[in-house]
Amino acid sequence: MPATFTKSALMLSLMLGLGQAHAAQTDVNALAAAHGIPHPAVIAHRGASFDAPESTAASYKLARDLGADYLEMDLQRSKDGVLFALHDNNLQRTTDVATKFPERKDSPANAFTMAELKTLDAGSWYNKAYPDRARATYAGLKILTLDEIIDIAQANPKHKPGLYIETKEPQLFPGIEHDLKAKLQDRGWLSPAGSKLAKSELGVGQGKGKVILQTFEKNSLELLQKEMPQVPKILLLWVGEGSIEPKSKVTFAESGEKDKNVFYGKQEPKSDAEFKQWVDFAKAHGAIGTGPSAKLTKGGDQSYSDLVQPWMNQYTHDQGMLVHVYTVDEPVDFEKVMAAGVDGIFTNRASELLKFYKRPASASVDQVLKNNGF
Ligand code: G3P
Ligand code: CA
Repeated sequence: MPATFTKSALMLSLMLGLGQAHAAQTDVNALAAAHGIPHPAVIAHRGASFDAPESTAASYKLARDLGADYLEMDLQRSKDGVLFALHDNNLQRTTDVATKFPERKDSPANAFTMAELKTLDAGSWYNKAYPDRARATYAGLKILTLDEIIDIAQANPKHKPGLYIETKEPQLFPGIEHDLKAKLQDRGWLSPAGSKLAKSELGVGQGKGKVILQTFEKNSLELLQKEMPQVPKILLLWVGEGSIEPKSKVTFAESGEKDKNVFYGKQEPKSDAEFKQWVDFAKAHGAIGTGPSAKLTKGGDQSYSDLVQPWMNQYTHDQGMLVHVYTVDEPVDFEKVMAAGVDGIFTNRASELLKFYKRPASASVDQVLKNNGF
């Protein structure tokens, strides 16, 4: 157990339900405040994507009106140069591309113009996948441009979340870091250096930490730093190809595991030094923190290597950096990762995390969806 995270402090923090020692929290609070980032931060992963189709107007408006600090998105660029939000490389899982463009269904999303992308239904898949949470109004939802997500972030006069933007597979989009800068500048989302977190209740979207940039790719971190040195950046971490080297060289295919996520959950860094080296790289290239993966209690397709062990978080804090863990949805895991010392959580269930942080939304998920016409 790290020196500054004593057993009694852990007990106290668990009793408080926030899972973080007071002594340690003081420092990380100050660190977060210096960047204009709420502590702990509620990062709505692809919007409130448990309750509405990911990365659509329904999920982003829901996350905003519930009171999430940040709207998270995976940034891609269309064939004709428009920035938009989509997680997967291709459109099969979350749209009806197979019906509308059968010959091109396996093509990457960036092989489509924005006009073509806008013909796709990005909501109906959710109704089929999650019939218990389906809504007729989700059918026909559109893929959103970055401009449209900015409009959503700005539209609630009572709460303005920030944007937490990932350059997704940036090697597929040369120059996307520059394009992103141009768009954010154009929309007035690049704060002047030295500006402070807004003191009002309006939220993070009006202060110094209104945008956080995130990437798994070292090269993209460097480019983001070059383009937008004043904007907070997070280097995302996981164990596997292109990121932290695993202890075991056994591949998924060789492992005999049936479930890829069980395999990932068993992965661990080759050594403590290997983990630290990634944190050190992040710091040296302008990141103000890391975004590590978590191993989830129930497993599932978002459960990866446990990179939020207390010593890892302590090491990151000792470098003067924050830890925002992805992607955690269950109270048992909120407890666990907060007790381990993280400073914010990417979640698909913003409503649940806000409750856990004792900042519950003033309306239910159902009510907010209805208020927004869903
Ligand atoms: O960006 C943090 C988290 O979203 C990373 O995982 O695959 O959901 O983008 P992914
Ligand atoms: Ca992401």
